Amino acid sequence: MIPPAAAKTFDELTLGHGVGLEDLIDRDALSEMVKSFYELLGVPLRIFSEDGKLLADAADQNPLYAYLNSAKAGRVALSDIAGKVKNLALGEDGLASYPCPTGESYVVAAIQYDGKRMGRMILGPFVSPSDAVPTRVLLTLDPALEASRLQELFLELPRAESEAVLKLVRHLQRTLDLLLFSGHRALLTSNMHLASVRESFRELEDKNDKLQTAFDRLKELDRLKSNFLATVSHELRTPLTSIIGYSEMLVEGLAGEMTAEQREFVQTIRDKGEQLLQLIKGLLDLSKLESGTMSLRKSQTDILTVLRDVAQTMSPTARKKEVEIIVDVERGLPLMWADSERLRQVFLNLTENAIKFTPPSGRVTLSARITAVDASNPEEAGGLVILSARRTAIEFRVADTGIGIPEAERSRVFDAFYQVDSSSTREAGGTGLGLSIVRRLIDGHDGTVRITDNTPKGAVFVVTIPVKRATIG
Ligand SMILES: Nc1ncnc2c1ncn2[C@@H]1O[C@H](COP(=O)(O)OP(=O)(O)O)[C@@H](O)[C@H]1O
Ligand SMILES: [Mg+2]
Repeated sequence: MIPPAAAKTFDELTLGHGVGLEDLIDRDALSEMVKSFYELLGVPLRIFSEDGKLLADAADQNPLYAYLNSAKAGRVALSDIAGKVKNLALGEDGLASYPCPTGESYVVAAIQYDGKRMGRMILGPFVSPSDAVPTRVLLTLDPALEASRLQELFLELPRAESEAVLKLVRHLQRTLDLLLFSGHRALLTSNMHLASVRESFRELEDKNDKLQTAFDRLKELDRLKSNFLATVSHELRTPLTSIIGYSEMLVEGLAGEMTAEQREFVQTIRDKGEQLLQLIKGLLDLSKLESGTMSLRKSQTDILTVLRDVAQTMSPTARKKEVEIIVDVERGLPLMWADSERLRQVFLNLTENAIKFTPPSGRVTLSARITAVDASNPEEAGGLVILSARRTAIEFRVADTGIGIPEAERSRVFDAFYQVDSSSTREAGGTGLGLSIVRRLIDGHDGTVRITDNTPKGAVFVVTIPVKRATIG
């Protein structure tokens, strides 16, 4: 079935219905044409649409008709003529003429286009040059009308041979045909354009609806996932705390002495339990960060203290791997407006990675120096719109001499659970949550993080965080 919109277009294209003369020809153009024909021949000319609307008119009220209008019988005769002429049945050739009882004549011709009647043109009144005398009907119409005056005015009517009028009609028809053709072409073009715009609009709307539905669904799924993650993590943490606590008590011999082998097994249970707990904490952090329910407790923070603390915490791990940790902080750095606990978490994560992916006798350097962020560059400014163009910031670098991160992987490592080499034989361990938490915590400080190469080898994580909170002005 053709949808209604398409059916309408189809009709418009084929002149199916509802397309009239006035849709195809500009009214002003029609009036111009009618006027120039009138000037040329002097015979009044009017054009009507198929439903009887007057579209163009070139004639002055002729003095005879004006005089007839002044008497009652004259008025009746005139309206009778008007009605007859307007509704004259046209012949096969689309022509008809009407000799009025009062002596003057009219010629009526159909306006056709593409086999369809679009309207009619009416020429007249005019008298044949040979008819010099008005009819008796005219002279005896009304006692109130003087015969001599009627005679005089009758002679003033436009004079034309029927032949000439018919020739004029054919000429007019040809001209109208041309006008209709170009009008039709313009209408077709604009309708076709409209139809195609309508169609693409409909398609776009359709796609938009589908996208919106898919988006809503994904959002809902994402919310469910976050909820699920939060609930499951929470529920796992409680029993896990017991597992770790009891295995600790066993290791310490609170339930009696154990053989070395038993102690080793229980120790493994404890270690793995601890690992699991870290994972669950990470999941909880991530779901809080994703749902925006993690609040940062910011205060004036000393960066040197944070970095030293991180290095100290990580030093046993580093020593075990024979990796050296160096803290290199520029002197006289200002205090920073930050959540020191979360900042510590950021650098613990980065340092842990750095050590993890660096082979023995390598080096990890934690450094900080003052710099400026260009606030007019949203990428650097962490998406904030700030009025002052440049702000002081601290640039942190966690550099290692390890395996490095290939260029193509640098944006993906911040995705949750993403690991560059996730094969099961991978010895580094971990879950792939660390960097996604790091990124979100840095976002929470209006900062940015990027990865570059270290020379000759290794990776550098560059974290830039504004010193002050965003202020206006
Ligand atoms: N310093 C680094 N050197 C090389 N690769 C790294 C480094 N830091 C992170 N990566 C890569 O990014 C991945 C994601 O890191 P992360 O989110 O901390 O997860 P995880 O440490 O649990 O694997 C790591 O698995 C590793 O492939
Ligand atoms: Mg990690």
